[in-house]
Amino acid sequence: MPDDPIGAPAEDGAIEELLREERSFPPPESFRSQALVSDRHLYDEADQDWEGFWAAQAAQLEWMEPWKSVCEWELPFAKWFTGGKLNVSANCLDRQVAAGIGKRVAYYWEGEPGDRRTITYGELLEEVERFAGVLYSLGVRKGDRVAIYMPMIPELPVAMLACARIGAAHSVVFGGFSADALSGRINDAEAKVLVTADGGWRRGAVVPLKANVDLALDQTPSIQHTVVVQRVGEKANPGGGLVPMREGRDHWYHDLMSPSPARRGPEPMDSEDLLYLLYTSGTTAKPKGIMHTTGGYLTQVTYTHRYVFDLHPETDVYWCAADIGWVTGHSYIVYGPLANGATSVIYEGTPDYPDKDRWWEIVERYKVSILYAAPTAIRTFMKWGTSYPEGRDLSSLRLLGSVGEPINPEAWVWYWQVIGGGRCPVVDTWWQTETGGIMISPLPGVTTCKPGSATFPLPGMGAEVVDDQGKKVERGGGYLTLTRPWPGMLRGIYGDPERYRETYWSRFPGRYFAGDGAKVDEDGYLWLLGRIDDVMNVSGHRVSTTEVESALVDHPSVAEAAVVGMNDPLTGQAVIAFVTPKAGASRDSAHGEVLRQHVVEKIGPIARPKAIIFTDDLPKTRSGKIMRRLLRDVAEGRHLGDTTTLADPAVVEEIRERAMQSPAEE
Ligand code: PRX
Repeated sequence: MPDDPIGAPAEDGAIEELLREERSFPPPESFRSQALVSDRHLYDEADQDWEGFWAAQAAQLEWMEPWKSVCEWELPFAKWFTGGKLNVSANCLDRQVAAGIGKRVAYYWEGEPGDRRTITYGELLEEVERFAGVLYSLGVRKGDRVAIYMPMIPELPVAMLACARIGAAHSVVFGGFSADALSGRINDAEAKVLVTADGGWRRGAVVPLKANVDLALDQTPSIQHTVVVQRVGEKANPGGGLVPMREGRDHWYHDLMSPSPARRGPEPMDSEDLLYLLYTSGTTAKPKGIMHTTGGYLTQVTYTHRYVFDLHPETDVYWCAADIGWVTGHSYIVYGPLANGATSVIYEGTPDYPDKDRWWEIVERYKVSILYAAPTAIRTFMKWGTSYPEGRDLSSLRLLGSVGEPINPEAWVWYWQVIGGGRCPVVDTWWQTETGGIMISPLPGVTTCKPGSATFPLPGMGAEVVDDQGKKVERGGGYLTLTRPWPGMLRGIYGDPERYRETYWSRFPGRYFAGDGAKVDEDGYLWLLGRIDDVMNVSGHRVSTTEVESALVDHPSVAEAAVVGMNDPLTGQAVIAFVTPKAGASRDSAHGEVLRQHVVEKIGPIARPKAIIFTDDLPKTRSGKIMRRLLRDVAEGRHLGDTTTLADPAVVEEIRERAMQSPAEE
């Protein structure tokens, strides 16, 4: 297929061969001999004494007061390690320094323009103690919420850890979100302080964070102060000079940090105290504030980070290439790695800046041994060809991870072969913002992999596929459910306990419903098939169809909109919008661009529709529900199937014609 953007790599056909054989991939012998776990004992321990297993994991952390019970489970509400007290920042920093690894590098940071910083555990602790003092002096107290809207710079984990230190919950808002999305999240959490930056670098251009903040803060009565890191300086302000600062409200980070503010020690937190909120898209237009608490969450991310990545903290250099604005970065750039004393890489920018070998240059420079990335990135590299990775020394790599969306077997094998040189296990890790940490994944050293399958639940986790009636499916397809509580599970949706029960615990009694389709193959391997609800997955990021629809109908020219996720070879899914304009409104491509831009302003670039299809009407069931599945079929040019439940079957034909006239545009 010449126009397939993911053409097979040109070399010697080795990848097709590996695929054709439907090979299984056991952990390479060279890896197994050094692996942390090379037999099934971890599974056996968890099976034999589930509570004891989790207690042993929690005991790896430092507690200020011991817990009284491991898990109290009143479906759907779980409490873990109740009565125990600890502080997350103390576990990530003070404990490491006390153990004598204060001089170990916590983060190798690289900015997109090429600036670099190396930060040891000792230095990170000092910065966090001081910034905790700053937040305290701005009136932040235990139980408050602090919003964070930053690029990938070291001050981002510093701000998160400083919140954790004084017991305030953070709510990190991904720097790619718009002013509207930011203000909505700030208001839902009623955050008191916002930590941000003047801007960030992305593909050589400035992301105008402070300008967005100024727009957002017109609508956020709860914010009393902002702290602004100077990241880009005068380039952040097209008007010249530094970004405008509002007297009394906005403070430069560097001004507050010098002269040295009073340092704050770690606040003893109850195991079930709120650690953070992270907003994620659901099936309604309003994002959900997912609540994560302290002891159980830290236990799960520490445990999974150690075993799934076979972490040897003394020698490994670990790079999770996600953004800290998503849960992957929270759990596997900040909390898990630091609690394990790992050395991590943080990179601010995009993989193609200034050249398409930027990632491989970083792997080579820091001798990265563990790389954790999203399938979209891997498919993009495949498209760019093998010359970029081949031009760099990747021999330091010994383990590869994948997260965020199903990885197609071709990309899996390419990752294994071209990036890992056939010597690195590939761990495909399934989890969600709600689960806090990894749930389903191979154990490197133990599990024989099949490309495209996330394999089995980790020790301590329970996952099953069920049918429509909630009956366990032994072999075949169905819905993915989780069968028992787990320590990092969400404790609720902020301000909406009913929605928590409704969304996750009502579809199948006694089970957590993940929203994903899955199948079990003849060997019992789990294959994740993507979302089955109205949530799209674009480049590994969740985007709600209804959220995009409400952004579209917010535009005065739009009468009605229906949004679907269409399969896309690069990004997994692409956002496609069917729009019914108001009478007299324009339907040309320039207007389509106006609507696309409107979505960017309401949500952010990630939600930007790839194609807009104007139509006079939308296919609906007799009860008035938009038939998204049908629209998806139309968009993908598939056979339409049964359309008899349509209010007006002619609509489909019309939509199909339109869709054929205006194929998906970039
Ligand atoms: O559909 C699944 C997909 O991503 C969803 C969770 O998205 P989010 O909360 O943004 O967290 C992403 C990072 C953990 C899931 O419901 N997903 C995540 N990992 C995988 C996956 N789908 C298939 N395979 C995976 N490894």
